[in-house]
Amino acid sequence: MQVVVVGTGHVGLITAVTLSAVGHDVVGLDDDEEKIGALQQGVCPFFEPGLQGLLEQMMNAGRLRFDLEGSGAVKGAEVIFFCVGTPPRASGEASLVFLERAARSIAFSLSGPTVVVEKSTVPAGTAERLLRVLRFERPDLVDEIEVVSNPEFLREGQAVEDALHPDRILVGARSPRGFETMRRLFEPLIRDGSRLIETDMPTAELAKHASNAFLALKISFANALARLCERAGADVTAVVDVMGSDPRIGRAFLDAGLGYGGFCFPKDLQAFERLAARLGYDFPLLREVERINGEAVEATVDKVKDALWNLEDKRIALLGLAFKPNTDDVRFSPALALARRLLEEGATVVGFDPWAGANAKSELPGLEVASTADDAMEGAHCMVVCTDWDDFRSLDLRRARGLLAHPIVVDGRNVFDPDTMKAEGFVYYGTGRATHRSPH
Ligand code: UGA
Repeated sequence: MQVVVVGTGHVGLITAVTLSAVGHDVVGLDDDEEKIGALQQGVCPFFEPGLQGLLEQMMNAGRLRFDLEGSGAVKGAEVIFFCVGTPPRASGEASLVFLERAARSIAFSLSGPTVVVEKSTVPAGTAERLLRVLRFERPDLVDEIEVVSNPEFLREGQAVEDALHPDRILVGARSPRGFETMRRLFEPLIRDGSRLIETDMPTAELAKHASNAFLALKISFANALARLCERAGADVTAVVDVMGSDPRIGRAFLDAGLGYGGFCFPKDLQAFERLAARLGYDFPLLREVERINGEAVEATVDKVKDALWNLEDKRIALLGLAFKPNTDDVRFSPALALARRLLEEGATVVGFDPWAGANAKSELPGLEVASTADDAMEGAHCMVVCTDWDDFRSLDLRRARGLLAHPIVVDGRNVFDPDTMKAEGFVYYGTGRATHRSPH
């Protein structure tokens, strides 16, 4: 099928590359000339495991190309994906201005039956508005234009794998043609075992917000338990293992730590709460999830202070700067929130991340960024694990102890075993377990 993807951010690019990988002819569009220039040279603008290779392969096979918006590539496309950003407004509400702009500009190039797919995470009711705008701009094509909601569930760092083997594909549509077109589009994935769920449009839109909010709620529940376990002398990792062994609860997304970050959960939670308020339903549970998430960074600052007393004249090493492993993304990263707080307290903060160092530096210039974990740890009075990269789990502990000025470790992601750390001579502060307290 002829497919156009508008927006070459994370979701847009993954969508374009993976749809071409399952056999469609895809054109990726963006209004950013520099980005399109790089993509036309086969250069992926961000890191995502497996993406660069697949992008080159699809471009060489002639099934994937990139162009500027307004280039006319839309003509003749059967399916047009809208993957434009929906950044938060100051109120927390999702801004849909890029979506409306894309709709109005693309409307003029439509020439026949087209299914416009809303991929961006949006408040319930947006697809209906999109349809209205498109039909208003093209009254001659009222019966030809369909809008479909197809929310994305992929995770950064595993996005290619998630897009090629999704556990569910959600399609919200309002007409048999919308459903039928999407069934044909996703046929290779459905044939491979992915489950297709078909609903109306507002249900699909709301299900996406509900899924992210529920995952964030699980994380905040685990983090609140961690605070409690620290007071009760219990171990949160064991508590959530017990809970998670009940299949009604499930073990996933119950890892206590520095909290959730990234460009999805924090903004989607707020947007969902704003949507609920606009619809006349107060949903304070969502605000509580956010509040508990914020506490996780503060609890870690408290542990660093417990260990070091005053933070002026202290050098603190942060291992991990990305919001989670296997990505170079630092947007709303809890590691950077922690770095900011430690800098405010007067500490020197030196961070290391396998991939996200450069992004972290440009986001937070006051942070020193080391090019190896050893360089970050050398002479530091305390080391804090902020992101659960596998590399940190297998850190040479004896070597780390030799490099640190004081053998103090605050484990913000519970990557180390408390007994091993003790045996290796560290003062070890876990999260929700085996937390050392200085005698006052
Ligand atoms: C999330 C969802 O998992 C995807 O399904 C969704 O498609 C995506 O948002 C989106 O809306 O675009 P992502 O933001 O890539 O994906 O990251 P996650 O793997 O969900 O992790 C989010 C944050 O939660 C990270 O900071 C991670 O460290 C943290 N986390 C995760 C925990 O603190 N504990 C856990 O147990 C799990």
